[in-house]
Amino acid sequence: MRLFPALALGALLLPLVAHAADPHSYAQPDQVRVTHLDLDLNVDFAHKRLEGSATLELDWENPRAASLILDTRELKIARIVALGGTGKATPLKYSLAPPDKTLGSKLTISTPMHPASVRIVYATSPGATGLQWLSPAQTADKKRPFMFSQSESIHARSWVPLQDSPAVRFTYDAHISAPQDIRVVMSAINDAKHPLNGNFSFDQPHPIPSYLLAIAAGDIAVKETGPRSAVYAEPSVVDKAAHEFEDTEKMIATAEKLYGPYRWGRYDILVLPPSFPYGGMENPDMTFATPTVLVGDKSLVSLVAHELAHSWSGNLVTAASWRDIWLNEGITTYVQGRITEALYGKALADEETLLSARALQKGIADMPPNAQKLAPDPRGVGADDSLSDVAYDKGSWFMRTLEQRFGRRAFDAYLKGYFNHFAFQSITTEQMLGYLKPHLIEKYPGKMSWAEVKSWVYGTGIPKDASLPDSPRFDTIDRESKDFLAGTLTAGSLDAKGWNTQEWMYFLDRLPDVTPLDKLQQLDAAWHLTGTPNAEIGMRWYSHAIAGGDTSVWPAAAEHMIRIGRLYLTLPLYKAFVKTPQGRAYAEQIYAKAKAGYHPLTQQAVQAIFAKAKKAGQ
Ligand code: BES
Ligand code: ZN
Repeated sequence: MRLFPALALGALLLPLVAHAADPHSYAQPDQVRVTHLDLDLNVDFAHKRLEGSATLELDWENPRAASLILDTRELKIARIVALGGTGKATPLKYSLAPPDKTLGSKLTISTPMHPASVRIVYATSPGATGLQWLSPAQTADKKRPFMFSQSESIHARSWVPLQDSPAVRFTYDAHISAPQDIRVVMSAINDAKHPLNGNFSFDQPHPIPSYLLAIAAGDIAVKETGPRSAVYAEPSVVDKAAHEFEDTEKMIATAEKLYGPYRWGRYDILVLPPSFPYGGMENPDMTFATPTVLVGDKSLVSLVAHELAHSWSGNLVTAASWRDIWLNEGITTYVQGRITEALYGKALADEETLLSARALQKGIADMPPNAQKLAPDPRGVGADDSLSDVAYDKGSWFMRTLEQRFGRRAFDAYLKGYFNHFAFQSITTEQMLGYLKPHLIEKYPGKMSWAEVKSWVYGTGIPKDASLPDSPRFDTIDRESKDFLAGTLTAGSLDAKGWNTQEWMYFLDRLPDVTPLDKLQQLDAAWHLTGTPNAEIGMRWYSHAIAGGDTSVWPAAAEHMIRIGRLYLTLPLYKAFVKTPQGRAYAEQIYAKAKAGYHPLTQQAVQAIFAKAKKAGQ
């Protein structure tokens, strides 16, 4: 189960309507559109702020438009000027509305003269939800501070004033100053040989949506992994990362063979400190990734396949609003599976498919009906409904179903055509369906009815005849697990020596929610799960051990939770702890130690878990 904090995606389903086309942005791109951004910022580690200016080039769509409306969150605005053709600056009047908890502050700039561009001079606040600032002590190498952004979904507005909607695409330039010896990278082409002289320039010539705007700065080393790929990471991490991600070029070549040329030039990966709140983020030219996938055996590198796949599904063809996000994540999860299959074999790809499909099957029935839909009605869901695996796993299941019905050849050609047709555009679910109908469904009649397509996209649950791959190895695990729980097989006799990461994940996922304590202790004695260096296994193991009352694992669980800020690997353990009063008290102590090292999103998400537990009287 993927976990998203309320501010990221849960809030995306709020019934608030800021603007009809995208309820999560105040911007009115039908009046005036930002076409280019020029950033000029200084990275000020001492004050935990970015300060400088953002200059927006504008296309005036409505001749009668009187203002430019932008999204902001906790920005300190010093002044705003209009820039005419001659470069002459004229001060503009503006007003910043009181903040909305989810959307931030609407910035209305009075622009009766329709200037060609507008410059906003501003600084971010230390608590910016789209940035994390780490002190040297909070980094792996302890020498220099570190800063990184995470803009998706609606956090770009906390570090740049802009039209923060995926429906708006713009090119960008940036000039970033930073202390000596610090490397700055962005979601644009990065130069591995750039001197660390405090002055960096970037140019992203392709129009991108705001959620793909990204920056990081710190003690960052570089190591090449191929002709157009490298890893960036703190010096003590970079070799390990280069080894783990050594197949990157093969992945790019595989995706190109399927869907056409990689259009972004380079594909680099920045490995962040473990507080990075997600597994990966598909920032153009420079994927941001968690170090928790560096397990030494390449078993979790489908994360790279996933983020790379977004270079087609997401970055090239983008969901126009957050309600359409399955177009990004569902198609990407499908493509990820294809890359994994080509490089590591069908058995592994099928295991990964089954792991996520089983999780979806387990969870979907308990979701509110609207949240079970690939394309939900944005007005129909309450604020507390957290986002789930539907976009990823129901979305990719739909794609696999299309592949099955139409055959690989026809479906591959269709998908390649789809990416080319909508390249560098932001589209709605309905535009995708408008292309699907003539180019696949009606082109090969009798394979899939339109009613079936609609039930996948707009229906609840999972269509009855949806099929899944077989995995003989998972079947064996199911049998052994049953025997182990029944007491006819000892923990030591489980055939687990050869289990890969996915097989351990599957075994642990399928154990009962509350597994008897003696069984847990037998497992740990035989397989030494406590203290595992593999955080995917650790998260699952500690969840079971906490739920089953095995207090001996608490210190190791605490170490995992303090070290790792990735939401998906840490929140389940807080949730397991708060189920009992003693557990809650312990989790509060853990949080007190961990908080300073957590990303603002992780802090908010953990606090929400405590608040909910308190309310429930736990
Ligand atoms: N684009 C997402 C991350 C994201 C989604 C951030 C929504 C904020 C809001 C990224 O491509 C992703 O899906 N990452 C996954 C890893 C993947 C292997 C499923 C993650 O972070 O767990
Ligand atoms: Zn993704």
